[in-house]
Amino acid sequence: MTNLKQAQDQRRLFLIPFLIFITLLILLQIQTLRNSFPAFSLSCDLELNETRSRLQDMVTFLPLKDLRYTHDPLEGHTWFMSSINDMQEENESQYLYFPSKESKGRVLCMHGHDSSNGANNSYALTWPDVLPSGAKLLSGLTFISETFYDYTNLWHGLSAMTPFVAWHERKACVLPERWILFHWGELRVKMVPWLQTLMEVTLGRKVDILKIFDGDGPMCFEKALVFRHNDGGMAKARKEITYDMMRCKARAYCNVSDENDHHLKKKNNNKVIRLTLFLRVGSRSFKNETAVVAVSGEQCRNMDGCRLRVARSYNLSFCDQVRLMRDTDILITPHGAQLTNMIFMDKNSSILEFFPKGWSELAGVGQYVFRWLADWSGMRHEGAWYDPDGQQCPYTDEGQCFTFYKDGQIGINETFIAKWLTRVLNEVKEYKSNGQPQLGSSVCPCS
Ligand SMILES: *[C@@H]1O[C@H](CO)[C@@H](O)[C@H](O)[C@H]1NC(C)=O
Ligand SMILES: *[C@@H]1O[C@H](CO)[C@@H](O)[C@H](O)[C@H]1NC(C)=O
Ligand SMILES: *[C@@H]1O[C@H](CO)[C@@H](O)[C@H](O)[C@H]1NC(C)=O
Ligand SMILES: *[C@@H]1O[C@H](CO)[C@@H](O)[C@H](O)[C@H]1NC(C)=O
Ligand SMILES: *[C@@H]1O[C@H](CO)[C@@H](O)[C@H](O)[C@H]1NC(C)=O
Ligand SMILES: *[C@@H]1O[C@H](CO)[C@@H](O)[C@H](O)[C@H]1NC(C)=O
Ligand SMILES: *[C@@H]1O[C@H](CO)[C@@H](O)[C@H](O)[C@H]1NC(C)=O
Ligand SMILES: *[C@@H]1O[C@H](CO)[C@@H](O)[C@H](O)[C@H]1NC(C)=O
Repeated sequence: MTNLKQAQDQRRLFLIPFLIFITLLILLQIQTLRNSFPAFSLSCDLELNETRSRLQDMVTFLPLKDLRYTHDPLEGHTWFMSSINDMQEENESQYLYFPSKESKGRVLCMHGHDSSNGANNSYALTWPDVLPSGAKLLSGLTFISETFYDYTNLWHGLSAMTPFVAWHERKACVLPERWILFHWGELRVKMVPWLQTLMEVTLGRKVDILKIFDGDGPMCFEKALVFRHNDGGMAKARKEITYDMMRCKARAYCNVSDENDHHLKKKNNNKVIRLTLFLRVGSRSFKNETAVVAVSGEQCRNMDGCRLRVARSYNLSFCDQVRLMRDTDILITPHGAQLTNMIFMDKNSSILEFFPKGWSELAGVGQYVFRWLADWSGMRHEGAWYDPDGQQCPYTDEGQCFTFYKDGQIGINETFIAKWLTRVLNEVKEYKSNGQPQLGSSVCPCS
């Protein structure tokens, strides 16, 4: 009994201070809640503000171009925004997107004033409610392109733009509010007019290229899409769909879509073989244009239904070029930017490419770019002729020699052209007499 009572007493001894403590605590809480709620809230606000300000100070800007990767600037994460790994969708070019799950909801901010040293520009990720001080948040989607090459060469420029068009096409035709262009992390403020027109026509919106980064404050982007590998990683089928869309949009814009032309095509297209000699002016022009025109004309006359057109790539408007290509089955032309227009031809059209001396030995993969473009856009590249004749290079250095040869004029081998053209003309005749003309749908994607 005594044992039991002792145990109860002990328990009570423990219980009493505990109960007092709890009561006091409750009273205190009530007191606090009743008297000091505004103060409590204020201190919480202060703390939040303090934390936010610390987070703002912690936003770390890294160089846009990371010089540690100069030896291998295109590999993996590249030297552009090198701390962030790419995201990938099957058959598409790798990209970065902000904000995203991968960026943990953070947006992209940039200092991008420098146009000659990419390491002077910088980037950072942060949450939209803790932007660095002085930052400006630009609303909507921003397309950000980084290319190792440039936006002035048609072929390179097109390779940089293709993934953006593919994105637009597969993401419910989403449009950017603005574009930002970089090359080696250096700000670029324009692209070649042909390319800008093509982008405006394809997306159906003016291309607004950001030219000015305000003062010292960074710019942050509500949403940003970055491509830094050009069209690398895009599957051939995806490229073809993208070029199909560009062709469709460009023809519609220039009022030469299949629909406008339906009756004409149905009547004539199967019979007529449209040969276009697309001449360059100046660099990589033919030494003797008269001779090239003569031998092409002769082969064309020998072929039923063939008609030859001679055009110059100089001073043609965008729509002049689209129209010319729409009316071409066989394109004969020197290697050069004008060949980028091949994407506007009917699918399965043919290309005969000419090079000056020096290209086959010294140009590296650069000589194949239009074979690739033909392959990707569904055309037939029928081969190339490399001029074996010309001045000897006076240098020993290969780079210097390529510069010496690069823009040389192109001679002629009439026997070769005659045989080559006859073969292609026969192929095209065969193809046209078997196949139905590809009228396709005149309704382009995203219209
Ligand atoms: C906390 O920051 C907000 C927004 O910047 C401001 O309106 C508020 O007055 C600040 N509160 C305190 C206690 O500093
Ligand atoms: C990617 O391309 C391959 C080959 O063309 C195709 O089989 C596959 O279905 C494509 N994947 C997607 C997600 O489109
Ligand atoms: C940019 O980099 C160069 C070195 O290439 C340096 O001289 C210059 O001061 C830098 N400019 C700015 C604004 O940081
Ligand atoms: C195409 O036709 C429309 C309607 O006739 C005209 O307004 C437009 O200017 C034309 N576009 C071009 C590029 O010629
Ligand atoms: C150019 O070719 C034509 C036709 O083959 C020829 O008559 C003419 O002499 C050539 N001109 C030159 C400058 O070689
Ligand atoms: C190209 O256009 C410019 C300006 O319109 C003109 O001065 C020039 O002569 C043209 N060149 C050729 C080869 O037509
Ligand atoms: C192009 O030619 C190939 C092979 O001859 C054929 O299978 C394909 O349907 C043609 N494409 C178009 C768009 O005519
Ligand atoms: C011209 O081409 C023909 C046919 O390919 C070839 O046999 C001939 O050697 C070439 N002539 C010259 C001068 O290169």
